[in-house]
This record gives sequence, C-alpha cells and structure tokens, in this order.
Amino acid sequence: MTASSPSTVRPYDPISVSPLSFWAQTAEEREKSFAVLRRERPISWHPPLEGALIPPENDGVWVVTSHELIGQVSKAPELFCSGEGFQFEEVPPDILEAAGSFLGMDAPRHGKLRRLVSSAFTPKQVAKIHDQIRAQARTLVDELLATGEGDFVQLIAKRLPMWSIYQMMGLDDPAKREEAAHLADGMVSWADEDVAAGREPGEVLNDSLVGLLTMGLEFAEERRRNPAADLMTALVQAEVDGDVLTDEEIASFFVLLSVAGNDTTRNSISLTAMAFQNFPEQRRLLLEDFEGRIGTAIEEFVRFATPVMTFRRTATQDTVLGGQQIRKGEWVAMVYSSGNRDDAVFSDPDRFDITRSPNPHVAFGGGGPHYCMGNFLAKMQLREIFDQLLHRAPTLTLGTPEYLVGNFVRAVKSLPCSLA
Ligand code: HEM
Repeated sequence: MTASSPSTVRPYDPISVSPLSFWAQTAEEREKSFAVLRRERPISWHPPLEGALIPPENDGVWVVTSHELIGQVSKAPELFCSGEGFQFEEVPPDILEAAGSFLGMDAPRHGKLRRLVSSAFTPKQVAKIHDQIRAQARTLVDELLATGEGDFVQLIAKRLPMWSIYQMMGLDDPAKREEAAHLADGMVSWADEDVAAGREPGEVLNDSLVGLLTMGLEFAEERRRNPAADLMTALVQAEVDGDVLTDEEIASFFVLLSVAGNDTTRNSISLTAMAFQNFPEQRRLLLEDFEGRIGTAIEEFVRFATPVMTFRRTATQDTVLGGQQIRKGEWVAMVYSSGNRDDAVFSDPDRFDITRSPNPHVAFGGGGPHYCMGNFLAKMQLREIFDQLLHRAPTLTLGTPEYLVGNFVRAVKSLPCSLA
C-alpha cells in the first residue's frame, strides 16, 4: 500500500497501527509492535485509522513512538499545533470545537483560556480539597469492605474521580454527577459496542456531547443566578481580555473537564490495582514506608498505566522530525504508552517499580503548553485511594478485566473484585 502526494509516493509502514484490530489486542501485544517501531522507525507513516467517524481527508498519519520524539513534538507547538484537532482519527470539526475547549486551541487563545481555569488546579488550590478527597476515599473503601465483592470499576475506580471533579466544579446533585460521568464515557468510547448499545458510533458521540453541553449550559445558568464558591461560578464571572466567556465556551469547558477528569484517573486506579496484584512485592515495599515512598510510587502508577494512549498534532509548516520530512498539514500522532516503555529512558520498562527514580514519564503529555492541567488532582486521588486500599483492604483480589477497544484511552470497562 502506498500514499500519494504531489511530489512523492510514500510507502506505509509494514506494521500497521490503523486497523481497529490492532487496538483490540492487549497492551502487551501492542507493545511488541511499538518496541520494533521505537527501535527501528521511531517515526513511521501509517494509513488513516480504520473506522473513523468521517472519511479521512489525509492519506496517512505519522506515528511517533519514542520518548524523545514525543517530547520534541509536544514542546514545539509552533511547528505541531493542536488547533486542527487532537485525536488520532478524523472527528467532525463542529464536534471537536464544542468538545475540546482549549485542548484544541493554540496560542494565544489557548493560554488565555487555560490560565482562567488553571488557577483552580494549582497544588495550593487542590490542597484545599485534600481532606475531602481523603474522606471520600475512606467512604468508598468502607463501602467496599461492607459489600465484599463486585465490580472494582463501579465500586471504587469510577467514583472517586467523578466525585472530585464535580466537587470542584460545584455540581452537587449525585444523580447529575452520574449522568455527566456516563455521558463523558460516551465521548471517549463511541466505537465500543457495549457503550453504543445498538447505536451508530457517530450517534453515541453526538448524543453524549449534546447531553453534556446541555448540562453545562444549565449549570452555568444556575450559577449565574446562585453564585457559590466553586469553579463554575468562577467561570461565569471570569473575564478574558475584558470579555466574559460565552455560554458555548463555558459549556465546552464543562465537557473538557468532564472527559479529562473522569476516565483518566479512573483507569489509572484500576490499572494500578491490577499492577499491585501482579507485583505483590511492590505492594509490600510501599507498605513498609508508605509516606516515604508514595510520591515516587504515584509517578510509577501513572507511567505504568498510561491511561491516555495517544494525542495528535498537525504540522504547521514543512519540517523535519526524527530524520523524516514532514509536510505542512500532515498529522503527527504521539503514542504516550510507547514512550513510557522506551528502554532508552526507562530500565526494565515492563516492570512496575514504585521506587523508579527519575521517572520522566509522558503519561501527562510530553511537556509544552498542553501538559495535563489536572495532574496534581489526579495524583492526590491516587495517593488517597491507595492509602485506603493497601492499608485497609489487604485481601482485595481482582479477577479478569474487560477492556474497551479503541486508540485513545486505555480503559478497563469492568474488573471483578472480592475480598478473599
Ligand atoms: C492520571 C490521570 C490523567 C492523565 C494520565 C492525563 C493525561 C493528559 C494528557 C496526556 C493530556 C494532553 C497533554 C498534551 O497534549 O501535551 C492532558 C491534558 C489535560 N488534562 Fe489530563 N490527565 C489526567 C487527569 C486529569 C484530570 C483529573 C483533570 C481535571 C479535570 C485533567 C485535565 C486536563 C486538561 C484540562 C487538559 C488540557 C490541557 C491543555 O490543553 O492545556 N486531566 N491530560
């Protein structure tokens, strides 16, 4: 197979990451392919992803698998922009705009909008809800101990992130929190048959987006009428360059925070719980000196899980990356899950090692302006939930996980658990 362009015919890489079947493999199977690509062709050319919602306009996508090149792309937004989409596959532009908020913007607008929200996510601000997150983690583990068995995702992993993000935003009603988290799931898993429940993928995405936007708009309206000490009130009162944010911008923030704040931490919790079961000596090591080791351990939780597998940029001009000529307008997808297994940076990368230091993982992005804004919040949740689980549920036993099929989030749909 080949891709044609005005001046050359460029062959596709023999290892194709484009079919859905590639992403339906286990992470370990995919990693075997990425290991070859990293070693031999850390930037490689692939056909557009199969099963995209709309027919792709590009004839291919560059796939970047090494830690070094992920850093280079992430830190050069003037060459590799986010404003023309950030997903590995073609998504209708109106959906991207409504769903992406500043994740899909470039400077200067990106910086202005990000600053507005990021003040709520600094370590100092997040520390203000530390006690509440701790109490919530304790309650969840109380309930797990009382229940004894069930689905770990539903009992634990899903609930803490949902609680934390909507607590910050000020969305108090538990039913609304559930509804928003459910809709946010649809935004990252439209291709999954269970989530789709008979609907077309495009319909799932659209239903989820419209549902979340409507909730965001209603919530913004409510906070205009009844201001409170929360993030939504800050957003409706905020000014950028003398202008207040439009309803659409606020609703789009609500979508971004719902999507970014739920699935990511949820899957980190599930995948880390599985890692502790597979590496019991690491559990013992952490328990020997929890306070002393948890800081380093959390970085390893996130590296090992890498719940966000890919993000994409678009070349703003002709340039060279890793020795390859990239043309203006071409797509460059970064595979964070591959960068985090790069043995040029991480020794014995398939080993879960809570003492790994330094640990320059790219799970929160490869640096640069879009670096994960919620990283302190995510780390605090991981700290509190594993403090509770490791100390208070030592017999927790996990069964066989069921994974979502897709190229974006590494998601555990269900994970049977019992207190053996
Ligand atoms: C372990 C959990 C998490 C992981 C692995 C993760 C990962 C990421 C990644 C890879 C990016 C893109 C970085 C880039 O393009 O350079 C990102 C961006 C972002 N994340 Fe997270 N995230 C996590 C948790 C959270 C949480 C809890 C929130 C809070 C709501 C959050 C909010 C955001 C936002 C708003 C952005 C967009 C930043 C921008 O475009 O400037 N994330 N995250």
